Amino acid sequence: MTRTNDRPHPSRTKPVIAVFGAYGHTARFVTAELLKRGWTPVLSGRDAAKLEAAVAGLPGVETRVASVDTPASLDRAIAGAAAVINCAGPFGDTSPPLIEAALRAGIHYLDVTGETLVAADTFDTYRNDPRVKEAGIVVAPAMAFYGALGDLLATAAMGDWAAADALSVAVALDSWHPTRGTLLAGRRRAGRRVVFSDHRLRVLAGDEPPPQGEWTFAEPFGRQDVVGQFSTTDVITISQHLDTARIDTFLNTAPLKDLGDPETQGPRAADADGRSSQVFLVEVVVRRGSEERRASARGRDIYAVTAPIVVEAAEWILTGRTRATGVVTAGEVFDAEDFLRALPLDGLSLGGEG
Ligand SMILES: NC(=O)c1ccc[n+]([C@@H]2O[C@H](COP(=O)([O-])OP(=O)(O)OC[C@H]3O[C@@H](n4cnc5c(N)ncnc54)[C@H](OP(=O)(O)O)[C@@H]3O)[C@@H](O)[C@H]2O)c1
Repeated sequence: MTRTNDRPHPSRTKPVIAVFGAYGHTARFVTAELLKRGWTPVLSGRDAAKLEAAVAGLPGVETRVASVDTPASLDRAIAGAAAVINCAGPFGDTSPPLIEAALRAGIHYLDVTGETLVAADTFDTYRNDPRVKEAGIVVAPAMAFYGALGDLLATAAMGDWAAADALSVAVALDSWHPTRGTLLAGRRRAGRRVVFSDHRLRVLAGDEPPPQGEWTFAEPFGRQDVVGQFSTTDVITISQHLDTARIDTFLNTAPLKDLGDPETQGPRAADADGRSSQVFLVEVVVRRGSEERRASARGRDIYAVTAPIVVEAAEWILTGRTRATGVVTAGEVFDAEDFLRALPLDGLSLGGEG
């Protein structure tokens, strides 16, 4: 079923971008970002009533009901679009059918998965799939806070180094009120952690506790207790293209109590754009022998910032600012420093030598 809320907005002249899972929390930021930049979003998802509610107050925005169980409905959902942004998670259910639909239509595919195992599967399954090359499309999983930001910072920090001995990504959050999608994804992961050491990815079972330690962050966080092996999609994206023997990931322990709170209500809007007050800081350190290079980014609301990341990526892909097509990461195909500077961050530090 296709519905148009009103007549198309005359100022929207750029191509259509389909948003799947369009009434979710992150997708609403994505739609707002597309509209702000003059793209024409078409909103798609499995529930007609939720879709209609999502376009209330968005004149001219079209909705198309579609299910991942019905390929023809996905074909209709993305018909006429130049790219599809998949925001429907858990992504194990949605990424494969949406990528197949994008391949049939010959359009670019981006998603915002934070699920390491799903992102790894996407690279494993499609990296060498000749259909991706033949279609000349970009398939970009994990184009989000987790998956793109750490990868871009790591790429910028590496600079002209061809290889590093070790790379660390440390994330500090002052709080983390997770969405339903994040909680469901966490349940699917069931404690499993993806680690990268000795040049290879391994999946650890959930029964061994992760390592604990301390990390001294820049302000406003300072010294924090951290948990290691904090398995994020950064491990997957970075290991796809940067040559390092190991990747260590850390999260400060302070927000873990929010994540485990069964009464969580999700992120609470604290400004006119709907962003929560959550503050994040991502620090990347790369080491080669006794040398060290650093890069970091500070900003607000990991869900909200995902929208400018994935929309910026779609925009760069659709305007030819990519180094390659195929299954790619942000750091691999974009100019990392330029891309990072284009994001609405509150602080960005690049290329510091330690
Ligand atoms: N990597 C990152 O940094 C990052 C950033 C933001 C979000 N994410 C991830 O993105 C996902 C969505 O997050 P969110 O914050 O938007 O969560 P959310 O508010 O719970 O929204 C999830 C959306 O996905 C839809 N969905 C789930 N399974 C579906 C399926 N099988 N078919 C069709 N639609 C389906 C839901 O529709 P129904 O209501 O019909 O179930 C809903 O619209 C989560 O997994 C989250 O962890 C990752």
